[in-house]
Amino acid sequence: MSLRQKNVVMSSTTPLIIALVLQQLLLLMAPSAVVGGTTIAGCPGNCGGVGIPYPFGIGAGCFRRGFEIICKNDAPFLAGSGADLIPISNLSFNPPEARVTLPIGWQCFNSSDKVDVYHDPNVDFNRDGMYRISHTRNHFVVLGCNALAYVGSQHRPGVVGSDDYDHVSYTGCLCYCNDSSSAVSGNCDGVGCCQVNIPPDITDNMVSFYSSSHKRNLNFSPCDYAFLVEKDNYTFSTADLRMDKNRTMPVRLDWAIRDNLTCSQARKTAAQVSGYACVSDNSDCHDSTNGPGYVCKCNKGYEGNPYIPNGCIGKFVNCYIPIRSRKKKLPLYNIMRYSDFFSSQTYFKFIQTNRKNSTILNTNPKFVKI
Ligand SMILES: *[C@@H]1O[C@H](CO)[C@@H](O)[C@H](O)[C@H]1NC(C)=O
Ligand SMILES: *[C@@H]1O[C@H](CO)[C@@H](O)[C@H](O)[C@H]1NC(C)=O
Ligand SMILES: *[C@@H]1O[C@H](CO)[C@@H](O)[C@H](O)[C@H]1NC(C)=O
Ligand SMILES: *[C@@H]1O[C@H](CO)[C@@H](O)[C@H](O)[C@H]1NC(C)=O
Ligand SMILES: *[C@@H]1O[C@H](CO)[C@@H](O)[C@H](O)[C@H]1NC(C)=O
Ligand SMILES: *[C@@H]1O[C@H](CO)[C@@H](O)[C@H](O)[C@H]1NC(C)=O
Ligand SMILES: *[C@@H]1O[C@H](CO)[C@@H](O)[C@H](O)[C@H]1NC(C)=O
Repeated sequence: MSLRQKNVVMSSTTPLIIALVLQQLLLLMAPSAVVGGTTIAGCPGNCGGVGIPYPFGIGAGCFRRGFEIICKNDAPFLAGSGADLIPISNLSFNPPEARVTLPIGWQCFNSSDKVDVYHDPNVDFNRDGMYRISHTRNHFVVLGCNALAYVGSQHRPGVVGSDDYDHVSYTGCLCYCNDSSSAVSGNCDGVGCCQVNIPPDITDNMVSFYSSSHKRNLNFSPCDYAFLVEKDNYTFSTADLRMDKNRTMPVRLDWAIRDNLTCSQARKTAAQVSGYACVSDNSDCHDSTNGPGYVCKCNKGYEGNPYIPNGCIGKFVNCYIPIRSRKKKLPLYNIMRYSDFFSSQTYFKFIQTNRKNSTILNTNPKFVKI
């Protein structure tokens, strides 16, 4: 562990009292005492600056089934997305979300007022069915004049990879413009742009357009566009009535452990194949709020990753102890002391900082238990 080696070097150049503290800390840093990481030991903790917390992981043995991440040219992508590599900009377990980048859908009309070219944005990001489009964090936006588009949920909730849509729920909106000056940048209220909330349990980003005459607006709005997008990310501009067809949008996905089990069933199968996911002490299971399955959370008073052993640790913070080297007066490691309110355990959280300007370097701080 690089943290340990740095401390050894440091202790030889620091005053006695610091050396004693460090000595004590070194004793604490036997690997068996390290708790509260977010990745499985030996697995990459990040790719291109994006943290990869378990159940996500890169490479064999590092992820739970359905949560594989590909790190390609130092950028993370969802595995199982076939030819379409779906870029990831954030992964988290609290809340259980993945922020990804998805293409937009569009259709364009030609001079005979017929749909000439069309693009269904549907990409296969959900091979194992772990994801749902977050209905709380995204909405659906349609751009165009005399344009109607909608998204729908699949026939059987929990089953993906089927073309069988019968729209258990669907939602969309209609935009209209009287003429080229009707739409106003910044307003997405039905003139040139409309937006609508979406229901839960949407498994993919398929959109459907309804085609009605574009004769009146062919010269200023020949195409319709439709996309799911993170709320507050997209602001309508009239220039977007001719949006770049290659544009992509950030979308938040909710993930869950979707082994076809509820919490009460999952707890009973703990010992079985691909068993119960909430393996940390002081964690518990909560039924998913978007689609079937469950998620794990640390119990009240604890924080960390409930999906790995000893991932949840006491949250009661009482102080920071900066360790300074003798020559450079800036902290090498800031140590945050945690006391576990419930079991009277004490932990130290190592926050590695840049020597020159104290910028925090490690995005996944290690916790050390006494
Ligand atoms: C990733 O998402 C989590 C949870 O929403 C958030 O706390 C964190 O700041 C995000 N990280 C980045 C780099 O955006
Ligand atoms: C417009 O598109 C329709 C459908 O593809 C096609 O039949 C028609 O010939 C096209 N008209 C022109 C003028 O390109
Ligand atoms: C609607 O568009 C027509 C044709 O451009 C125009 O003559 C008319 O004034 C517009 N109506 C309104 C209310 O803007
Ligand atoms: C929207 O998301 C993109 C991609 O993450 C980001 O670059 C951009 O700053 C966001 N815009 C707003 C207004 O949040
Ligand atoms: C859009 O993507 C296609 C295929 O990757 C490419 O050929 C085209 O040049 C791109 N268009 C723009 C405007 O970037
Ligand atoms: C999942 O649950 C449904 C409904 O209870 C059941 O019909 C189906 O057989 C289950 N599938 C698996 C793989 O356990
Ligand atoms: C701190 O220093 C590092 C390396 O010298 C640099 O990459 C980083 O941008 C600096 N951060 C700030 C906030 O100045």
